[in-house]
Amino acid sequence: MSWYRTHGCGTLTVDQIGDRVVLSGFVARHRDHGALIFLDLRDASGIVQAVIDPSDQPGVHALAHSTRVESVVRVEADVVARTPATVNPKLPTGAIELRVVALEVLSMAEVLPFQLDDEGVDEALRIRHRALDLRREAMTRHLTTRATVTRIMRRYLEERGFLDLETPVLTKSTPEGARDFLVPARLQPGAFYALPQSPQLFKQLYMMSGFERYYQIARCFRDEAQRADRQLEFTQLDIEMAFVERDDVLDLVEGLYAEIWREVRGVELPRPFPKLTWHESMARYGTDKPDRRYGLEIADVTDLVRDSGFAVFKGAAGSGGVVRGLACPGGAGLSRRELDDLVAFAREWGGKGLAYLLLDASGEVRSPIAKFLTPAEIDGLRSATGAQSGDAILLAADDEAIVCRVLGALRPHLADRLALYDRDSYAFAFVVDFPLLKWDTDEQRWEGEHHMFTAPKREHEQLLDSDPGAVISEAYDFVCNGLEIASGSLRIHRADLQQRIFDVVGFSTDDAEARFGFLLRALRFGAPPHGGIAPGLDRTVMLLERTDNIRDVIAFPKIAGGHDPLTDAPTPVEGAQLDELGLRLRPRP
Ligand code: AMO
Ligand code: AMP
Repeated sequence: MSWYRTHGCGTLTVDQIGDRVVLSGFVARHRDHGALIFLDLRDASGIVQAVIDPSDQPGVHALAHSTRVESVVRVEADVVARTPATVNPKLPTGAIELRVVALEVLSMAEVLPFQLDDEGVDEALRIRHRALDLRREAMTRHLTTRATVTRIMRRYLEERGFLDLETPVLTKSTPEGARDFLVPARLQPGAFYALPQSPQLFKQLYMMSGFERYYQIARCFRDEAQRADRQLEFTQLDIEMAFVERDDVLDLVEGLYAEIWREVRGVELPRPFPKLTWHESMARYGTDKPDRRYGLEIADVTDLVRDSGFAVFKGAAGSGGVVRGLACPGGAGLSRRELDDLVAFAREWGGKGLAYLLLDASGEVRSPIAKFLTPAEIDGLRSATGAQSGDAILLAADDEAIVCRVLGALRPHLADRLALYDRDSYAFAFVVDFPLLKWDTDEQRWEGEHHMFTAPKREHEQLLDSDPGAVISEAYDFVCNGLEIASGSLRIHRADLQQRIFDVVGFSTDDAEARFGFLLRALRFGAPPHGGIAPGLDRTVMLLERTDNIRDVIAFPKIAGGHDPLTDAPTPVEGAQLDELGLRLRPRP
């Protein structure tokens, strides 16, 4: 018992009726009914209602009257039962209230820049006053869940013999496809450290050191465009294991997420989580991070319409492209305007248009392109897409990548508009067998689809020279509800193969030695086969807390332009500091 309190606000029940208690906390609400003042007191344990009656203590009443909301106070009070009419069953403490006998304001709040229950406050203003903003019930819940999740992650991995090992933050580039954040080195003017995009190479070095099971809740830094699910600095649960095959890693992650969902959400996730190959995912969903809460599966109809009278289809099929489509349930009822919107949507995603057939309940087919299609072709489209009377068939024709992009974007768009799924459900899946490389058209070279340390499938190694684009890798993703939650792979554990991959992606031996010599050196002295994965903590908490905004699950996030409205970082530095670093700024153009 301290001077500040005998109880937590949220812990009081009918058991304390008749007791004199001491509480400290924020004034969550302040209602002045003239004679009676009601203060809701809030601390980390919850909320309780206090009543100040002028006939009890006139001095207390006057002070309570002038105490602003969100001030921090200490009260001494008697716990009394509420009258039956005033019992609040929604509040854990709703059966009792406090009659205040002494009140002390520990810290008076100024007039607030926004009300905590106002949902419409500008986000920059909220972050500027983050200490206040985090008092919102939702924000407190998000961050509490975040802490619960990291506790479960640690416990789960510790129980399985993983060691929490650290890796440096001032280091050399660990590329994951983004720009590096650089830190000038004062002791070596002109040289820079890079902040890690992930601990990737260091966790591999741990495997080469014989540590077999590593994890770390690691901060990663990537100078890339921010989005609703991306921050410049974010947190991974980074995992690496030696002497494992793909499914050892995936089973570990599946068990972990089942445990997290059981403890945090109280749901038993159906297991095993489905696995689909990257090719299958692209073909059926148009993306490598499918939302599988709803159907809307894509069907390939290229062969069906190869000789079609519709020039768009025939042209695409005849020039190496594809024609694919899906059945939109109830889509025959879409208005002309709604259909035009869908065509415009397809164009926004890079398509040339979107063809549609409306299958009326009467059996009639309405479509601007119906006149170009034979009845047999229409029947074929109907059975390939599984469309029923009352549905619409939506079709895109183009290069495969564009068709995937258009239909991959159309699926969630339609599912949202037509409310085709339960927003509170979760559909986890693993996507496996990614291609090893992808062609970078800007730079005219191959680059790693995951990263350059990912192993090709053993039987595909010999394709590296003849047909690099066909090489399938040991990379996998873990996805849920259209979000990529984790990526990982089995790694290359032979220096010669690693060197070969560097060749294929266009590093000369000297470049490779200069950038990754430390990895190649380690690989040369015995390296166990190893692999791992890195779930994003922020995205995991977003899913659990059902928010689309990553900033809602990060206590002190950055907004557009990498700006932190709280501290105003990044800020210019003094000339003297630049001199010390041997740096001079160029005037802005
Ligand atoms: P990758 O780059 O795919 O893999 O990242 C793994 C996971 O980290 C999360 N993530 C992000 N979260 C928020 N903001 C970002 N900017 C951001 N970037 C990535 C995602 C993603 O799935 N070293 C490899 C992992 C490995 O191979 O073991 C890696 O970093 O949830
Ligand atoms: P057009 O011949 O350009 O008037 O197009 C006729 C219909 O076909 C319109 O509904 C277009 O949206 C659609 N369309 C045009 N190009 C494509 C394409 N590449 N894939 C699918 N539909 C298309």
